[in-house]
Amino acid sequence: MRQAAEAISQGGLVAFPTETVYGLGGDAFNPDALAKIFEAKGRPRFDPLIVHIADLETLEEVADLSMLDTAARNPLFLLTENLWPGPLTLVLPKQKAIPDLATSGMSTVALRLPAHETARRLISLSTGAVAAPSANPFGYLSPTRAEHVAEMLGEKVDLILDGGASQVGVESTVLDLCNGQPVILRPGGTPKEAIEALIGPVAIGPAVNADDLAENSGLPSPGLIKSHYAPRSPLWAHDGESISALSPSREDRAAFLFFDGASRNEWLSVQSLEKGFTVAVTIAVLSETGDTLEAAARLFQTLHELDRLSPKCIHAQLAPEHGLGMAINDRLRRAASAT
Ligand code: TXA
Ligand code: MG
Repeated sequence: MRQAAEAISQGGLVAFPTETVYGLGGDAFNPDALAKIFEAKGRPRFDPLIVHIADLETLEEVADLSMLDTAARNPLFLLTENLWPGPLTLVLPKQKAIPDLATSGMSTVALRLPAHETARRLISLSTGAVAAPSANPFGYLSPTRAEHVAEMLGEKVDLILDGGASQVGVESTVLDLCNGQPVILRPGGTPKEAIEALIGPVAIGPAVNADDLAENSGLPSPGLIKSHYAPRSPLWAHDGESISALSPSREDRAAFLFFDGASRNEWLSVQSLEKGFTVAVTIAVLSETGDTLEAAARLFQTLHELDRLSPKCIHAQLAPEHGLGMAINDRLRRAASAT
């Protein structure tokens, strides 16, 4: 831990666990470290980073709350009081100390106070603010284990802190508090329902769940480009009913990713009725009982496993649109739109 904090303080890069996914961290106040993050990920510089802090006291060092609309102050208080630390990123007016590179030149900064103990210790033992995107090459599946980072970015980081599997498994929900009504720019580990229970109705950003996301311009959150989160194998996203009618042919070498056990069973029964089950397919289920929390926690891990088998394609079943289902579907649709 001391070595890792030292590396960050010296402008190096450390991959570290968070409760959502692993992050690729560098000193948020150091433009050279920020440039290294973009470089290591192959990430375009128009896609701003999330700045992670370890305690609420640091908030005003990175966010300029005097620039925040007065109507947003109470929601900010309620959200930080109840949902931080946790998988929620808040977009707020930025403080001058945060270099433009971190925010792609915008006057706002995305901030998160992670729940993972290792992440918080790393941040507070180093510079107090660590910029970290997910620790994967740009456009590829996010890492939920240290092994994923080692495989994908091993040589490009000074150190990887291994904290086991990420508990939440999908990235944080990104909520913009800078434009009148709060807007979810990216569905994630904090369900919309939990946010609305505290601050009332929130809007959903236009890019979310849109079929034809603009390639990389005109989006409220520049990172919301469609090729995100894709496995190497082409992926198709199906709703619950259309996947059960889908039969693979003998040469398909397809992988099927079901949301729940019941859907898999139904699909299996249709397959064997129609032609006897002789085709080689790989089958995975995100949650036997259909629990969106469990499904989210297993999403990237399962996609990494399927992708390693290099199937000709992955047929994935969408989740119901509640709880973490929204975040799961967002990731699957983006992966599908890269196909
Ligand atoms: O769970 C997470 O959020 C993980 C872990 C490591 O904390 N991090 C993560 O970072 O997912 P990244 O860089 O992969 O995603 C950051 C998202 C992008 O969609 C980006 O466009 C958006 O946050 N974002 C960053 N700064 C923003 C800003 N100022 N305004 C609007 N969106 C912003
Ligand atoms: Mg990412």
